[in-house]
Amino acid sequence: MRSQLLLAILPFTQAIRIVQSNDDGWAEINIRTFFDTLSKAGHDVVLSGPAENQSGTSSSDAAPTTVDSDGCEFSSCPSGSPPTGANATNPRLNYVNSFPVTSIKTGIDTTGPKIWNGGKAELATTGPNVGSNIGIQVPFSGTVGAAVFAAHDRQIPAIAFSGKSGDPTAWDQPTPLYSKVYADLALNITSRIISSGTPYLPNDVWLNVNFPDVSSTKCSNTNQFQFILTRINTGVFSEKDTEWCGTDRLPTETSVSLKSGCYVSISVGDAADKTTVDAARQKEVLAKLQPILSCLP
Ligand SMILES: *[C@@H]1O[C@H](CO)[C@@H](O)[C@H](O)[C@H]1NC(C)=O
Ligand SMILES: *[C@@H]1O[C@H](CO)[C@@H](O)[C@H](O)[C@H]1NC(C)=O
Ligand SMILES: *[C@@H]1O[C@H](CO)[C@@H](O)[C@H](O)[C@H]1NC(C)=O
Repeated sequence: MRSQLLLAILPFTQAIRIVQSNDDGWAEINIRTFFDTLSKAGHDVVLSGPAENQSGTSSSDAAPTTVDSDGCEFSSCPSGSPPTGANATNPRLNYVNSFPVTSIKTGIDTTGPKIWNGGKAELATTGPNVGSNIGIQVPFSGTVGAAVFAAHDRQIPAIAFSGKSGDPTAWDQPTPLYSKVYADLALNITSRIISSGTPYLPNDVWLNVNFPDVSSTKCSNTNQFQFILTRINTGVFSEKDTEWCGTDRLPTETSVSLKSGCYVSISVGDAADKTTVDAARQKEVLAKLQPILSCLP
């Protein structure tokens, strides 16, 4: 009976172990909204984010230290708290008083396996970042830095999400519309990658995903969005991209972000150097994402 039930449920849920981090801090509402969304979808999620805002800290890494006299961001932990800690009632919500890379590393190496009975993260997601991470911003982003650490240093497929709308907001404030929309779109992409089967992404690859502005009058509903395969940097002197939408040169994240539609850019990043990956690995990702991708008009 039980196995019949499992068989009936599995094709739809495919619950996996996901480690989450960001650079805006563990108590920022975007990461919490996405945590709730992933958890409701049935995934086994552990959040391990910085105690403070660590925006723009790229791939820095340092041993966590005792929380200073200001406490964690948005008063989410008191001054003098230990270098790492968890929400008092939910052990899946964790802060690390250091950089984004240190935070996701702690989640992958220590906190996750403790909660998963020794299990390992199957996918890493970072963000949604407050603000875009496109083109020349990518190398500086802590949200990207954490995803790249997971993909490159721990061989865990990783997706970095960033959203153009919104300001830093505490987790216990009412959930803004953009935060909800970004979490739902991020779940859509995450679910597509999971249902495409393992390996979820090619070796040493992360996805750099950017959501456009969301407001009550524009791009307010997830079914208005289109997903566009992009490249991070301009490709004038680069090798060809994979063939898609009738050309071998993908649009840049920046060019897509300047268009007025509800376009989400998805770039296939090389976790070895944070640039656009080669055409062969783009093609593998294209095959996985194709059911949800559109071409620009
Ligand atoms: C900790 O979790 C509880 C229960 O989910 C919640 O009410 C509280 O706001 C959380 N605090 C922080 C700092 O995450
Ligand atoms: C973090 O700091 C950056 C710049 O230092 C700022 O632009 C951003 O709004 C801050 N984010 C949060 C969550 O406080
Ligand atoms: C995901 O996005 C695609 C493309 O916009 C859409 O067709 C599909 O219905 C979405 N799936 C879910 C589960 O939201």
